[in-house]
Amino acid sequence: MEIFHISAECYPMAKVGGLADVVGALPKYQTNAGHDVRVVVPCYDTKFRRENDFDCVHWGSVKLGNFNFPFSVLKETTNKLGYELYLIEIDELFNRPNVYGYEDDIERFLSFQIATLDWILARETVPDVINCHDHHTGVIPFLIKYAFKYESINTVKTVITIHNGLYQGWFGFDKLHYLPEFDLIHIGFLEWNNSLNSLAVAIKCAHAVTTVSPSYLNEINISANGLEDLFNSVRYKSKGILNGIDIEVWDPLKDSMITENYSIDTFEKGKQKNKEMLCEQFELDPTKPLFSFIGRLFEEKGGDLLPQASALALSENFENINVLILGSGNSVIEEQLLQLRNDYIGNYNVFIGYNEELAHLIYAGSDYILMPSRVEPCGLNQMYALRYGTVPIVRRTGGLRDTVIDFGDNGNGICHDQASVGDICYSINRAVKLYDDKINFNKIVKKGMATDHSWERVCQEYIEIYNLIIEKNEI
Ligand code: GLC
Repeated sequence: MEIFHISAECYPMAKVGGLADVVGALPKYQTNAGHDVRVVVPCYDTKFRRENDFDCVHWGSVKLGNFNFPFSVLKETTNKLGYELYLIEIDELFNRPNVYGYEDDIERFLSFQIATLDWILARETVPDVINCHDHHTGVIPFLIKYAFKYESINTVKTVITIHNGLYQGWFGFDKLHYLPEFDLIHIGFLEWNNSLNSLAVAIKCAHAVTTVSPSYLNEINISANGLEDLFNSVRYKSKGILNGIDIEVWDPLKDSMITENYSIDTFEKGKQKNKEMLCEQFELDPTKPLFSFIGRLFEEKGGDLLPQASALALSENFENINVLILGSGNSVIEEQLLQLRNDYIGNYNVFIGYNEELAHLIYAGSDYILMPSRVEPCGLNQMYALRYGTVPIVRRTGGLRDTVIDFGDNGNGICHDQASVGDICYSINRAVKLYDDKINFNKIVKKGMATDHSWERVCQEYIEIYNLIIEKNEI
């Protein structure tokens, strides 16, 4: 089967969050399962783009209303990522360091989608399935079906995978003319609540809708930033598929980014060595339990709760625990977290920024990982943590609910229900007690390390959906 994944992010070419990890891994496992898989992302000015070789395989010009943007399609020459990676190069729009956050994001991602389809149209073979990811690629299912110029590929099946339904890619009717021509009879597919809504377009037009965990699919029927009714109406073609993780990139036994490699049989010694290194770097105390947070510092992830929860846990348990935070995002939260450094020297530290290498060391060297998310469509950090023998402390929501069970229920982690400072501190207290009960603690660590969250198993679920829509036009 020929499969295209179209996305704004793909690790290691461009990463902001978990979307990149999924789009960087799922295609590899689909390729291993015997399919022809191609990934298409915009050509940002990233380290990966600068340090790797690409061939130009196609060029053209995107028409966006009155604008014309020349574009090239670049193919990574070696396929070393385990699939074919293509970059859509539109210098004027993408030759910039960041993935998102520009005033012309709508123009950027519409151009990206149109250029990708122009290229697919020009190719000799027609893909069986196009798997779009999040709103940045949401208009594709509509264009394939209804834009006159793509008529010859209008039978291609499309899937929209939702990694985060809060962001929807809204734009005004004044930009309608950016889209290639279509019969206005179909305009209803583009509109939701008086605006053009890229994610809603994909939900309406794709043959299948997937979310990145089963619980998240249930939750968006109740709360989805205005799209609840729409999600309810497409339940018949929706499925929640829990993400996997790339167990080659995330393997404590082979990981070259950590100080000491270890397995389920040697984790005690191995993790201690990593912890010592981490504690040395951040001036923490390796004899005390280490609680870490890795991620974007936004309310969605419970980032706003971290300063107060850390302060409270450190003052209640002062000298009993260490807290280490790696992340960036909201500048107020960043500032509050930095301030705390002065109050808890030797027990608390923070690294503001994005640092993949440090993240690996933190998973390897921490005892607990905190994930107090308000919304978590899947969450990969808890799965990385489990694999590295780090016990997750999570709020029961979305994919966290599907992957972490409280140790009180014979599970692999610690769970609480509210995204609140009180609930986080209550869980930290339970964790400190558990840490002192080494036999039980180690049992829980081992349970986590033994869990199989590999893509090998999961990627088959996507293939089943592709097969259904190819055969029956629906799932
Ligand atoms: C988004 C979601 C996260 C999910 C990831 C990959 O970043 O917020 O929960 O794990 O996408 O699907």
